[in-house]
This record gives sequence, structure tokens and C-alpha cells, in this order.
Amino acid sequence: MDDKLEEIKNILKKYNQEHLLNHYETLDETHKKELLEQIEEIDFELANSLYQNVGKQEKQEDKITPIEYLDKYKLYDDYKYYENIGKKAIREGKLAAVTMAGGQGTRLGHKGPKGTYDIGLTSHKSLFELLCDHLKEEGKKYDVIIPWFIMTSKENNKETIEFFEKNRYFGYQKNKNIFFFNQGELPMMDTEGKILIGEDGLIKQAADGHGGIYESLLKTGMTKEMKQMGIEWVFIAGVDNCLAKMVDPVLMGIAIDKGVTVACKSVVKANPQEKVGVFCRRNGKPNVIEYSEITEEMAQEADENGELLYGESHILCNLFKVEAVERMGATPLPYHVAYKKASYIDKEGKLIEPTSPNAYKFEAFLFDAFGEVDDMAILRVKREEEFAPVKNADAVGVDCPKTARELYQKFMDRI
Ligand code: UD1
Repeated sequence: MDDKLEEIKNILKKYNQEHLLNHYETLDETHKKELLEQIEEIDFELANSLYQNVGKQEKQEDKITPIEYLDKYKLYDDYKYYENIGKKAIREGKLAAVTMAGGQGTRLGHKGPKGTYDIGLTSHKSLFELLCDHLKEEGKKYDVIIPWFIMTSKENNKETIEFFEKNRYFGYQKNKNIFFFNQGELPMMDTEGKILIGEDGLIKQAADGHGGIYESLLKTGMTKEMKQMGIEWVFIAGVDNCLAKMVDPVLMGIAIDKGVTVACKSVVKANPQEKVGVFCRRNGKPNVIEYSEITEEMAQEADENGELLYGESHILCNLFKVEAVERMGATPLPYHVAYKKASYIDKEGKLIEPTSPNAYKFEAFLFDAFGEVDDMAILRVKREEEFAPVKNADAVGVDCPKTARELYQKFMDRI
């Protein structure tokens, strides 16, 4: 242990993070061990370079241009053609679903994994169960069970699995057709580049964003598992869209027929101010421009038919070839910085609870990997059929349980 401690002290000295052991002696044995393990796992080179780059990325001058798309309901004769290709692949068991469920329901005032949130339907089904219902229904049509992979975070992994266990995995079988894997984490840093210590005496870490999904799928052996099961395509969606249509033969048919490794769904942006990312080309490559990044002028720009030039909203419903996921998992993505409020233990061992942002959180975005592909397909689908996000509390009035519930019910009444 002493040797290990010495070794760790040297590492910390090298990276100017010696304060991480300031309160080591006050910890119990379990926490001491955990802290040392955490430190050993940290990529300090990466952490330091992320800090050095704060404020620099934003200054890049990217060339943003509109991107072409197909409209699912204007495919005419091609609709059936693509659908048949996709149906065949689904029947052959080539499709799996991945749900990104690393988040907590904090914005909804929900204590626990976001997927366990009940949007208030009369059935009181959780987001997880609503998504599962869809997978099971679709699976039946093709006489297959659509394998389901769920990405959790360290924070909610245990609770998520307990929830599924309590619900008997909604009919799925653990490690046979439903799998859980953890997303990565990165330390939070203060404005001096010092890694924060949380109130438990351990390193303050935060989920590394959904862009970490490729690396996590690869590192946790999930892509290997998929390939062994004969899966060639994965549909990756967020847990917060209770209308996510993860099994879409038309989308799959398009991807297969066009030979692209990524195919994404879009819906028409409700209004120029809607808080969604929109598809675009960035320096010629497919990408998404986030709502926080788009200029007012660009958001308003319309074509000769009055349609927004940047109007294809990214709804986090994206289909990938498994081999593309592996390739993306092996290629580092850029990290985006968020300036957040984070409580921490100061030099004197006092808990500080800031009232304004004090710490950097680093996140990778899944769509930054789109630029890694040669090209991809975008399919415009109907918002009322596929997009009912639950992000805010009802008081906010948009993308909240009330709006999601109404959209979900309306959709169910129609089918
Ligand atoms: C996101 C997209 C935006 C899109 C909108 C559609 C980003 C940066 N932007 O915005 O382009 O138009 O959704 O609804 O994502 N998640 C994890 N781990 C993480 C972070 C997120 O699993 O580390 C999951 C969440 O559980 C959620 C989804 O990813 O299911 C979306 O994340 P969120 O942070 O809510 O993104 P938005 O800001 O809503």
C-alpha cells in the first residue's frame, strides 16, 4: 500500500494535482482504497489538456452549410422498396436497440434514474417500460426479440438494474437479450485546473456525455457481444423520448441500400427558437449544430419555399452499423465544456456549496462522430409519431411530462 501511495503521490506531483490527497488520512479504509483507484484511473494528460483548451474550441471558425435529407412520407414507390430491405434485415435478427440512460431525472424533480420516471399515464408506466413496450410490439411483427442494450452511468447503474430486476426485466432476459453497460466519467475541475474533491472525500466525477457511448460500447465488450449475436445495426436513442421508434424498416432499408453506416431521423423544427440541435454540414461533413450554438440569423434562414434551411431537428434517434460504432469508439471525440455549480471540499476540509458556477464539466457529444463517417442518410419523420421528449418540469411548459403524455396518448389513440 505504501509503495502504491508513493507512486500515486509522484503522479499527482507531475500533474500538479497533489491536493487530491489532502484529506486522505481522514478517510476510512474503503474510501482510501476507492480514492487511490479513482486516481489511478484518471487520464491526467487528457484532464490537463481539456483544461488548457477551455475557451479555445469556441473560437474555431467552422463553415456551416445545410444538409440534404429524405422525407419518409415523400418516398412514394421507394417507400415499399426500402421497407422490404429493412424488414428482411430485422427478421434476420440484425437489429438491436441501445438506450442512453445515463442521466438522472433532476430537471424533472425526480429522484432516481430518468428511465424510471412515470410521465403520469393511467398505466403509470415508466419511460423504460414505454420504450420496452415498443420493442416488444415491434419484435412480434418480425418474430424476433429485439436485443436491448442500456447505457447507465456509475451514478445510476445499480438503481437502474434494481428497477429492472423488480420489474422482471419486463419480460427480457438479463445477459441474453438485455444488457447493461456503464458510460465513462471525467473529473470536474475548478477554474485553476484543479480536480475537485466531493463531500465523500472522493474525486468529483461527472458523466462524459453521450459521445462516450461509442467508446463504452467498445470497451465494455458490447459490440463484441452484438457481433456474436449476428447484430449488424444498432439504433441508439435517448431515454427521454417516450415515442422513440427504434425499429424502423424504412430507415434501415435506406441505410442498407445507400451503403451508409449512419442513418438519422429528423423532425421539422417547430419554430426557429426550439431547443433542439439541427443537422448540418460542418466543414463539409455531417454534423449537428446545437441550439446553444446556432446564431439567430441562421436559425431564421429559410429557402424559397419558406422552409427553414436549418430545420431538420436532431431527435437523438440514430441508426449505426456496429462496425461504425467500433471505429468511432476507437477515435477520440472533442469535448465540450459546461460551466456548472459543483459542491466540493476545500483545502481546509470545509464543504463549499457555491451559489454560482465554479467548475468545468467536460462532455463529448454523440453527433461529433458523424463527421467521422464518409456520409450518412437523414430521414425526416413525423414529429407527432416519433418525438415526445420529457426534459423539463411541467412548470416550464415545453418538453415536459404533460406535453409528452398528451403526445403519447394521441399517438396511441390513432393506432
Ligand atoms: C439533446 C441534443 C439535441 C437534441 C435534443 C433532442 C445534446 C447535446 N443535444 O439535447 O441535439 O435536439 O436532445 O431531444 O445531447 N445522456 C446520457 N449520458 C450523458 C448525457 C446524456 O445517457 O452523459 C442521455 C440522457 O439520459 C438523455 C439524452 O442523452 O436521454 C439527451 O441528453 P440531454 O443532456 O438531455 O440533451 P438535451 O440538452 O436535451
